[in-house]
Amino acid sequence: MIIVNFKAYKEAAGKNAVKLAKICENVAKESKVNISVAVQAADIERVARAVSIPVLAQHVDAIEPGPYTGWTLAESVRDAGAMGSLLNHSELKLPPAMLVRAMKRLRKLDLISVVCADNPSEEQSLVGFKPDMLAVEPPELIGGKVSVSSAHPEIITQSVKLAKDIPLLVGAGIHTTEDVRVALKLGAKGILVASGVVLAKDQRKALLALVNGFKV
Ligand code: G3P
Repeated sequence: MIIVNFKAYKEAAGKNAVKLAKICENVAKESKVNISVAVQAADIERVARAVSIPVLAQHVDAIEPGPYTGWTLAESVRDAGAMGSLLNHSELKLPPAMLVRAMKRLRKLDLISVVCADNPSEEQSLVGFKPDMLAVEPPELIGGKVSVSSAHPEIITQSVKLAKDIPLLVGAGIHTTEDVRVALKLGAKGILVASGVVLAKDQRKALLALVNGFKV
């Protein structure tokens, strides 16, 4: 599977979020590769209404409904049409106790949790909480041109082993067919990508290159 993380890039926000989500939906239909989009909370409803592929939030807070100004409630994310959420992304880390509570909130609402870790040792501390998926992304490679597949294939191998029966995704700097091919060959179930697709001159062409990694 491929999760395209729209982050807060203007190329993937508001109307552009719908435009890119439709490109992802079209490529998913053509290629039969499972593609999900992780969008900003403010864009969940407009994107979920526009496409049939899974829409994820980028974060939910460990709160029940109540007096929490500015926080993101899991019920609202669900009602807006999200199927689940990323959690603990390196760009929005959660203290362990809050991360566990946020995972529990998602589980209670039948929303899937894609829990991010910066490295295999952080991943190891999270496996026991049984997220639906784990994603390992070395922060120093995020947004760059060197991928985790080319710079640190050993991280993928180690992360796959630690994940046991939990599907493991990898990300950071992924932008070529070979990056995807290597990640899958080493046992990852899929990849997370942001800049390689969102910031590409031709977003569709960039996504098709990644999808080809599932076919070689
Ligand atoms: O969540 C995926 C993201 O952090 C990877 O970013 O720009 O290296 O594909 P990027």
